[in-house]
Parts: sequence; C-alpha cells; structure tokens
Amino acid sequence: MLWIKSFHIIFVVSWFAGLFYLPRIFVNHAMATEPAEIARLKLMEGKLYRFVTPIAWLALGFGMWLWLGYREIFTGGWLHTKLLLVLLLIVYHFYCGKLVKQFAADQNTRSHVFYRWFNEVPVLILTAVTILVTVKPF
Ligand code: HEM
Repeated sequence: MLWIKSFHIIFVVSWFAGLFYLPRIFVNHAMATEPAEIARLKLMEGKLYRFVTPIAWLALGFGMWLWLGYREIFTGGWLHTKLLLVLLLIVYHFYCGKLVKQFAADQNTRSHVFYRWFNEVPVLILTAVTILVTVKPF
C-alpha cells in the first residue's frame, strides 16, 4: 500500500507542477505582442498540457487504487470532501486544455489579470486537499 501511496504522491506533485506553470504561461501570453514570442508561448502551452495530462490520470489512478483497494482503511467525510475538490481540479485541468486551444487559435479574450487570479485556484485546492488527507478533520 505504501508503494501505491508513494506513486500517488509523486504523480500528484508532478501534476501540480504543470497546473502551477501552465496558467503562468497564460499570463505571459495574454500580455505578449511579438509574433515570435506568441508562437513560442503557443508551443510551450501545447507541449506542457500534452505532457501533464497523462500524469494527471496516473495521479488519479493511484488515488483510486488506494481508495478502492483499501476501503476498509480509507473512508470518512475527509475522503468524500477531498474527492469533491479533486473533481473541481479535474474540471480546472480540462478548462486549461480549452484555453490552450483558444490561445492557439488567437481567440483569447481574457486579460493577464484574470489569469493571475486563475493561477491561484490550484494553490487553494492543494492546500485544502493536503489538510483533509493529512489531518482528516472529519
Ligand atoms: C481520484 C482521486 C484521488 C483519490 C481517490 C485519492 C485517495 C487517497 C487515499 C485513499 C490516500 C491515503 C490516505 C492516507 O494514507 O491516510 C491518499 C493520499 C494522499 N493524497 Fe490522494 N487521492 C486522490 C487525488 C489526490 C489529489 C488530486 C491530491 C492533491 C491535491 C491528493 C493528495 C494526496 C496526498 C498528499 C496524500 C498523502 C497523505 C498522507 O500520506 O498522509 N490526492 N489519497
């Protein structure tokens, strides 16, 4: 079980590296004016999103394995609340995918300020989930 949890944490951390970096690229892209810079940012967004999506599935897969493989151990309000937040995170991830497509088609309508706030969402979810899964307050 500890091997499964280790890989769960490894892929969760790697997923968040992408979820922290991709919106930061959106901030720069929303401010960019130079065609060469815009082309480079489009390349970075597409590559990063394609790289981090399989990692997200692995993080979720090992989490499900932990939960369903050890249901007698892992149960309680903390896990159900955690899963709700994880669902939000999955929606956030695929919304980033939609934004990557919008930027690639030069159809972004939002400002860099929006993306600075958008970038904070994973921080809040990570904080709440880590407290829930470590402290198990309920
Ligand atoms: C389908 C989604 C997920 C499921 C079913 C799931 C389930 C679990 C379970 C059952 C554990 C073991 C808890 C324990 O050892 O007490 C665990 C550990 C952990 N999970 Fe998840 N998880 C999921 C997604 C996530 C996500 C998205 C994050 C990050 C935001 C996350 C962060 C963690 C952390 C940090 C631990 C280690 C806690 C510890 O060692 O005490 N999990 N997860």
